Amino acid sequence: MKPRVVSGMRPTGALHLGHYHGALKNWVRLQDDHDCHFFVADWHALTTHYRDHAGLSAQVYDMVVDWLAAGIDPDRTTLFIQSRLPEHAELFTLLAMTTPLAWLERLPTYKDARAADASRRLATYGFLGYPLLQAADILIYRASFVPVGADQAPHVEVAREIARRFNHVHGAAVLREPAMLTTDVAVLPGLDGRKMSKSRGNAIAMREAPDETTKKLRRMPTDPQRVHRSDPGDPARCPVWPLHEVYSDDATRAWADSGCRRGAIGCLDCKQPLIDAIVQQQAGWRERAERYLANPKQVEWIVELGTERARAAAKATMRDVRSAVGLGH
Ligand code: TRP
Ligand code: SF4
Repeated sequence: MKPRVVSGMRPTGALHLGHYHGALKNWVRLQDDHDCHFFVADWHALTTHYRDHAGLSAQVYDMVVDWLAAGIDPDRTTLFIQSRLPEHAELFTLLAMTTPLAWLERLPTYKDARAADASRRLATYGFLGYPLLQAADILIYRASFVPVGADQAPHVEVAREIARRFNHVHGAAVLREPAMLTTDVAVLPGLDGRKMSKSRGNAIAMREAPDETTKKLRRMPTDPQRVHRSDPGDPARCPVWPLHEVYSDDATRAWADSGCRRGAIGCLDCKQPLIDAIVQQQAGWRERAERYLANPKQVEWIVELGTERARAAAKATMRDVRSAVGLGH
């Protein structure tokens, strides 16, 4: 039996290169030797965006198409949508009985978001409870590992504490404490050098058209001290450099590094191998995505089958949970 992995992503619509290198690429790799459960966290989207949900359904399916295009393999992986599994909400309710309020209130993600929330838009029970919901997402599959970024580490830690307390209170080893699976993933800078994000408008989509990608990369700022082509630069000061670390081989990197430092190449020369590599990668994604987009029924089926597979596992856990809390009747 392969160790079980669970992870979710909020439905943000079409994904960008930051999502791919920060999470999705790792998910694709994990499929080789893990029993993977990957889901669209659409309830989680509503914990913050409960008013503006007009595009939510389209965003869910756009994201699933990008997962498939990137190489998530529905034959090996259980791919599903959270809101189709009310079992997650049932576990959330039952875990709420033994979870101290202070564990949720003290989470840095919660405190930071509330401090920045002048409108009190996030002064809701749903937002406070979101890490508990996340714990239910994980514990219901008795997962061994949860691959998430560093920002989510406190949520995995609290999920472990919630499982431990539940087992302790009910005197039975019903829930498994999951471990966080950290991989050193590249934080890909956006077009302005800050972290890539759709809301900042600095992203390159996985399915971006080649001429758009080219235009965006050609316009991307470089080492500010290189005004003329012959000015020596320093890749460490350049927002483009991390892309070389992800996309270029050693020889190309050495060429770019020495060309930059000696003022022997222009920044557009330096960017060209990146443009070529990214456009080529996107072509593969676009081609696969188009096959799915031409056949939306197939995508629905993939999600349907994944959801039913997940449900079988979720139901088995819930039978044990109900009986542990006194609801075996
Ligand atoms: N909270 C995660 C995020 O915002 C998404 C998520 C929801 C998740 N449930 C999960 C991740 C369970 C891992 C496991 O990115
Ligand atoms: Fe950046 Fe390359 Fe220009 Fe140097 S040559 S500043 S690394 S884009």
